[in-house]
Amino acid sequence: MTQDELKKAVGWAALKYVQPGTIVGVGTGSTAAHFIEALGSVRHQIEGAVSSSDASTALLKALGIPVFDLNEVDSLAVYVDGADEINASLQMIKGGGAALTREKIIAAVAEKFICIADSSKQVDILGHFPLPVEVIPMARSYVARELVKLGGLPEYRQHVLTDNGNDILDVHNLKIMDAVALEKAINALPGVVTVGLFAARGADIALIGTPEGVKTLKG
Ligand code: A5P
Repeated sequence: MTQDELKKAVGWAALKYVQPGTIVGVGTGSTAAHFIEALGSVRHQIEGAVSSSDASTALLKALGIPVFDLNEVDSLAVYVDGADEINASLQMIKGGGAALTREKIIAAVAEKFICIADSSKQVDILGHFPLPVEVIPMARSYVARELVKLGGLPEYRQHVLTDNGNDILDVHNLKIMDAVALEKAINALPGVVTVGLFAARGADIALIGTPEGVKTLKG
């Protein structure tokens, strides 16, 4: 099976966590795009979605799925999204698609975070994938210097602005042994909007696409 077929399998497998009559939290990226396609097949059974990016909003609308502002929504049963890396504790690195801030906000609201990922995303130790950090543009150099003090090698993601109008630093050279502590430390730097470590609030369930089928892991 190709990597995209594995992504498609988990995207469709996540449908079983969608409850009829609810608003669904929807992530961003190529795996989430398969979930959105699957959601289109049950669009008459759900109330709609909240979206983590302009790109996902466009896909949802193209399928006729109503998209709600998160401020109109009191609660969400599930948030379904991909990951760039996921460990055995279901902590993740996210933000390869630059949507980390809205992803983290919706994940915070949702009762259950369902991570959908092909098996190439599974790691023992987080940090091989460069850790995205969304920063207010004027703070970019300051935050980069502070990230060096934390042992990382930040690289400015050029020609990319987030949906919130901010910059992204991708931090290389990290071997993340205490993901909760690092998430807290980076979030505390003035100018940081969000770090793409989803550790304090990891996934509740991970659906992992493997050539042998979709495996379900619980956090
Ligand atoms: C988007 O900002 C990311 O958090 C994605 O969830 C992550 O990059 C996974 O993307 P793919 O599903 O395209 O691999």
